[in-house]
Amino acid sequence: MLYSYALWICVMDIDDIQNRRFFLRNLGVLGGGILAATSPWLSIFADVKDTSGERLKLGVIGPGSRGRFLMKFLAKNKKVDIVAIADIYQPSIDEALEIVPTAKVYKDYRRLLADKNIQAVLVATPLNTHFQIVMDAMDAGKHVYCEKTIGYDMDQCKRMYDKHLSTGVVFFTGQQRLFDPRYIKVMQMVHDGVFGEITKVRAWWNRNNDWRREVPEPRLEKFINWRLYKASSKGLMTELACHQLQVGTWALGKLPEKVMGHGSINYWKDGREVYDNISTFYIFNDGRKMEWGSDIANKFYGLEEQILGSVGTVEPERGKYFFEEIAPQPAFLQMIREWQQDIFSDSMFAGTSWMAETAKPNHGEYILGKKPDADGSSLLTEAFVEAAITGRQPAGIAEEGYYASILCLWGHEAICRGEALDFPKEYCIDYDVYGTSEYKTDLA
Ligand SMILES: NC(=O)c1ccc[n+]([C@@H]2O[C@H](COP(=O)([O-])OP(=O)(O)OC[C@H]3O[C@@H](n4cnc5c(N)ncnc54)[C@H](O)[C@@H]3O)[C@@H](O)[C@H]2O)c1
Repeated sequence: MLYSYALWICVMDIDDIQNRRFFLRNLGVLGGGILAATSPWLSIFADVKDTSGERLKLGVIGPGSRGRFLMKFLAKNKKVDIVAIADIYQPSIDEALEIVPTAKVYKDYRRLLADKNIQAVLVATPLNTHFQIVMDAMDAGKHVYCEKTIGYDMDQCKRMYDKHLSTGVVFFTGQQRLFDPRYIKVMQMVHDGVFGEITKVRAWWNRNNDWRREVPEPRLEKFINWRLYKASSKGLMTELACHQLQVGTWALGKLPEKVMGHGSINYWKDGREVYDNISTFYIFNDGRKMEWGSDIANKFYGLEEQILGSVGTVEPERGKYFFEEIAPQPAFLQMIREWQQDIFSDSMFAGTSWMAETAKPNHGEYILGKKPDADGSSLLTEAFVEAAITGRQPAGIAEEGYYASILCLWGHEAICRGEALDFPKEYCIDYDVYGTSEYKTDLA
């Protein structure tokens, strides 16, 4: 099996990776459908031809930094018309109009929602504002893409998810790794057992910067730097952990049953209220573990989600995997090296070693045959557009986003309370996407 993956990776042409249909066909999404158990939401791409010629009328609420990043993909999508934007900050409006000069502008998002022509909205406002905007949008019958983390607390997340179920509108969240080819391929390999038994996931997101934005006038400090204040953010947990914890549960195919953690402000003592140094520890009912941490005063190890198996390790951010056993160096090379050492060195040569300790270093293999150069954000927006046009919710997409949010908010609560917490069963939803009933039975 390992060789067939290596072969698949070698024959993939780099330019072809840019082509979504080719890529998904190679992943087995189109036609064969071998990813159905691991990433069922990709089925949304199976019938993209049926929607050609259609145009989704989209409104963007909160076209700030993330909103505009996503708008750039959406503006290039032939199936989308960004007809309106809503924001309360003029500089954001001005920059968004550079991408879509013809968009209608609203200062109050409710007026955008009242426009009956608009079928779907992208919500990319600060965390504390998501809940009301999304609830109002769903009540207005709009399909919703909401940036992560979806709610400010677990209760809000559950009410948003329930509203999606009761209104029947499409609901996507900003978990782009779900559409990142690297992660999709990795999860297929993980679930196929290529890396053996996965016993632990270690994830971290480290930076060396203050996370602060320049503020044109002091009264705008909390508005612009909303990430640094408790009333509008839960800091590194809601901004960063949300992505990486979802990778862990995706790999392990279940939810943890306990969490503990600690947070502190050690370095950026600049008036912020959210932690700059966090460690958390999630434990599954079979003893397996997921560690997540973030330190923003040291960037040496960057970010990664290491998936540790008995046969191999995956580092999807780096785009690589490493098997435990690597081919030993050919014996004759070792012999030549010893001769050279014998001839050219005066120093005594230690005892002959023909064993694997002199094996070549393990550089691993690229998951997609090359260094990664993009994440899944573009495909995520495309998938949302397809779903909103057809009105069909892809399996598992809202649920993955929901649980990603619950996991980081639950971890945040453990940090704040300084206690080990059990999974809050009242926030369990009916989710059986991996073909097991563990999500339900482990915690029900
Ligand atoms: N998926 C990802 O990788 C990713 C990356 C970055 C940010 N995000 C998420 O995107 C969201 C926005 O983050 P950002 O960095 O773009 O923030 P930002 O501050 O740059 O942009 C937020 C925008 O919302 C506007 N806004 C605030 N309140 C509003 C309201 N009531 N009505 C309309 N507009 C309002 C602001 O004026 C601003 O233009 C956050 O939830 C964040 O976590 C996700």
